[in-house]
Amino acid sequence: MPRRKLIAANWKMYKTPAHAEEFLRGCLPVLAAHSRSEIVICPPFTSLAAVSAMVLESNIGIGGQNMHWEKEGAYTGEISAGMLLAAGCTHVILGHSERRQYFGETDDTVNLKLKTALESGLTPIVCVGEVLEEREAGLTEDVLRRQCVRAFNTISAKKAGPLVIAYEPVWAIGTGKTATPQIAADAHSLIRGEAAKAFGDEFAAQMRILYGGSVKPDNAKALMSQEEIDGALVGGASLNPETFLAIVQA
Ligand code: 13P
Repeated sequence: MPRRKLIAANWKMYKTPAHAEEFLRGCLPVLAAHSRSEIVICPPFTSLAAVSAMVLESNIGIGGQNMHWEKEGAYTGEISAGMLLAAGCTHVILGHSERRQYFGETDDTVNLKLKTALESGLTPIVCVGEVLEEREAGLTEDVLRRQCVRAFNTISAKKAGPLVIAYEPVWAIGTGKTATPQIAADAHSLIRGEAAKAFGDEFAAQMRILYGGSVKPDNAKALMSQEEIDGALVGGASLNPETFLAIVQA
């Protein structure tokens, strides 16, 4: 079975509910009619309700950008899987490099969050990727291996069901520098190899691995036509309906 592509918009800390509605008014009919790929929009928490109300009855998914691993508790400022589900989420981004870099996310918290997301029925999009110094020091493979091994720790193939990985080389995020299709494809094969070790060959063969990092309308086609690249996690270019649509249709 060929893997169905997934194109996810990560809006990061952009768009109020009014801005989210304006975006969707600009592209919802075309997005909703697009059936070739799975499409997911990940707005900030405060715009989840607005997006959820507008995409209702379409097959567009909605993702949180982070969550806590506990069901509830005294964790000021945090959001649980149950809260994401109640707000209409189908997906959740975990371990984004900006969370790792600025907010103390570690491989171990990613593992805890991944287990909770899977148990709650959310489709997790786990981000991995090396920073520039690691790439230049020849450490890319070690870093990706470590991030995968620790994220997958003590999760069984039976439980890992909908797991999606996003390879986002940190040096390519928001910089306009995209990994070449070959660099991305090599990283994706390595990640698939780690998934095979953790969950078996059959699981790994159907697991989707997205690429993220300066995906734009003009490079989307070359990236998406790589056999190993099963979709994109798009930041900057997902904020504008025209550029996002152009990527979806590439
Ligand atoms: P850019 O597309 O802005 O480089 O961001 C990528 C990203 O971080 C998506 O999660």
